[in-house]
Amino acid sequence: MLPAVTLFRHRWRSSAKKPKLLHPPSPWRFPIIGNLHQLGSLPHRSLQAMSRRHGPLMLLRLGQVPALVVSSADMAREVMKHQDHVFASRPSLTVPNMFTRNGRDVAFAPYGDHWRQVKKVSLLHLLSAKMVRSFRHVREEEVASMVEDIAGACASAPGRAIDMTRVLNTLAKQVIGRAMLGESSRHAAWGDYIDEIMGDVSVAMGTLHVGDCFPLLPCLRRMMISGRVRKMVDRVDEIMEQIIEDNERECAAAGEGDHDGEKPKETAESFVEVLLSLQKDGDDEMKRLMTRDTIKSMIMDMYAAGMDSTHIVIEWAMAELVSNPRVMKKLQHEVRQVVGSKSNISEDDLTRMDYLRAVVKEAMRLHPPGPLLVPRQSLRDTTVGGYHIPKDTWVLINVWAIGRDSISWGETVEEFQPERFLDNDIDYRGQHFELTPFGAGRRICPGIGFAIAVIELGLATLMHKFEWKLHEGEEMEMSEVFGITMRKKRTLQLVATPCF
Ligand code: HEM
Repeated sequence: MLPAVTLFRHRWRSSAKKPKLLHPPSPWRFPIIGNLHQLGSLPHRSLQAMSRRHGPLMLLRLGQVPALVVSSADMAREVMKHQDHVFASRPSLTVPNMFTRNGRDVAFAPYGDHWRQVKKVSLLHLLSAKMVRSFRHVREEEVASMVEDIAGACASAPGRAIDMTRVLNTLAKQVIGRAMLGESSRHAAWGDYIDEIMGDVSVAMGTLHVGDCFPLLPCLRRMMISGRVRKMVDRVDEIMEQIIEDNERECAAAGEGDHDGEKPKETAESFVEVLLSLQKDGDDEMKRLMTRDTIKSMIMDMYAAGMDSTHIVIEWAMAELVSNPRVMKKLQHEVRQVVGSKSNISEDDLTRMDYLRAVVKEAMRLHPPGPLLVPRQSLRDTTVGGYHIPKDTWVLINVWAIGRDSISWGETVEEFQPERFLDNDIDYRGQHFELTPFGAGRRICPGIGFAIAVIELGLATLMHKFEWKLHEGEEMEMSEVFGITMRKKRTLQLVATPCF
């Protein structure tokens, strides 16, 4: 045994030798609450302003939790590419945990075996290119129904503004609802129930719950959950249970033949059916994975992640197009030239619309539906940009600020100029860190193909079939509300004139 004095000397020397760890710059903070008060109602904007003072890597303290804020393409590449394996987890958040039975879903699951398996299921069985193609008729029918809806409104009240927020929301809801729940009328009814509650669920899941910032006070977490959220969780569970029971009954009624494992899973009618058939016919590992809780959480996830974000992109794109008539004319010209004398756009036509793709990218550069992505959490201590980042640090990637960084986009950064995407291959699939509205790396959104197919067909059809303008004397209002998705504060009201 070392004599006490030797031990003391040894300890003193080893701590004296330890290099001092360098932490990222931090704004001044209050005791206890840290920087919580500085987030404000539009955190992506407050964080951009702070990062202009403190740099592209900034360390905040949200209550007791350290949070790294990333605000440049270079640092986003470091986090989501070079150190993706370190930053691939999610913080444990009380409200999402309640809706997803402690992360049995994909989006809020912590990094590990469960997440790996459910992500694989969503990529291979629910959102594969083949599955997306199989819903082509759904997209075409729903886009045609949107055109009818708008044309009907034009005929009954010519010159009156149409609530395009409602119209686009219905389009996304119908496409995702039919893919998720299938075509039967009972499912349509469930779609209405889900719709009734989903808006509130998104807001509840997107709001930072202060209790999560004080993990050392677990009672605070529990105490601060309102009765309203608890009721919502029970209601969603009830609806999911009924949807699953309906499906099981219908499958049983349709006879053993359809679900005896011979039917290829991708031809199943809906996501719910695919998940149930994996549960019934999959191997042992799959059967263990696809519990009732996992199925319910995955359905819930897809709704929450997919519905709003898809319609929001078309809505912001339309708002920018109407505010920039030069761009709208150029897009209409491209669409009409490609479609020629045909009455409807086919999905094959879309592959020849380069300017359309540039418009969609530009809309997501300026208005990414998730301006801070979904928060990540570090799995161990690491170093980023020369700074020490401890284990369990939250990571917020401010893609809204990165989309407006003049180092990546030049002086015209605030202008809506789709041309910036015409002479390069920059896209949103997680390889170009100046444009990552769908995230990147292991946690990248698996629904890109599903979402883009609706966005491109919907937007091209609106350009093909109608002329668009604001109501006489109105000005375009571009302010935002922050939530799990970033919507326009005021609904988009536009006057349409049919041109078919
Ligand atoms: C324009 C539409 C959409 C946008 C902008 C979007 C954006 C995102 C973002 C930013 C993430 C987090 C990425 C990260 O942490 O790095 C994400 C994750 C996710 N998205 Fe999407 N999304 C869209 C549509 C969809 C659709 C249609 C679905 C499914 C039907 C979907 C399902 C998911 C799921 C399951 C995750 C979790 C992935 C994981 O944590 O591994 N998304 N999405």
